[in-house]
Amino acid sequence: MIVTIDGPAGAGKSTVARKLAERLGFSYLDTGAMYRALTWLAMREGLPLGESDALGDLARRNPVTFDEVGRVFISNTDVTSAIRHSRIDRMVPVVARHHEVREVMRERQRELGHQGNVVIEGRDIGTVVAPDAEVKVYLHADPEIRAARRQAERPDIGGDALATDLRIRDASDRVRMQPAEDAALIDTTDLEVDDVVSRIEELIRSRSLATS
Ligand code: CDP
Repeated sequence: MIVTIDGPAGAGKSTVARKLAERLGFSYLDTGAMYRALTWLAMREGLPLGESDALGDLARRNPVTFDEVGRVFISNTDVTSAIRHSRIDRMVPVVARHHEVREVMRERQRELGHQGNVVIEGRDIGTVVAPDAEVKVYLHADPEIRAARRQAERPDIGGDALATDLRIRDASDRVRMQPAEDAALIDTTDLEVDDVVSRIEELIRSRSLATS
């Protein structure tokens, strides 16, 4: 079974997806980490971030891998913490918007996602990467709450700068951020992580019953 969790930054995707996968005994795929890793590598190589073909090529030559505890690797380097820096937050949509990059990434995501039961998290998973997924969820939340959540993860950046960063990133990601028509929309503004996870579990139960 494939469960997709899409939505904007700070809506709670990563925490919810990780916890859900743990509870269900499913594997977990963080597609944002893949775009982040490629951005990290492009910046290390000094590659201009407007060069579609070169970036697509870089992605093809350097597949992102995850180990069993979720560490992220690219080009033989553990980039797990490096890809969470605000520098990467800002540049990743610039890299992720190239068609050439997305083609390579989506193919790899389908490959990684078709190995048994999995929770896949991202922006375009329910719509493009896994349109046939059995359960699709789209998480959203008020912008102030999303900025506050992100602030807890990035204590080095001021609240105003963070809110601005999120707004800019939302604008660049907008075209890829549409919920799938058959996705369940969950507003996480006033919900605890466990509540969101339980709602999704409920959804999975009802879908499984409906198809059995
Ligand atoms: O956790 P957060 O929502 O901040 O971001 P992320 O899921 O780590 O994704 C980082 C960036 O990668 C997003 O802002 C998008 O630009 C891009 N992304 C994408 O284009 N498609 C995906 N499936 C996942 C991420």
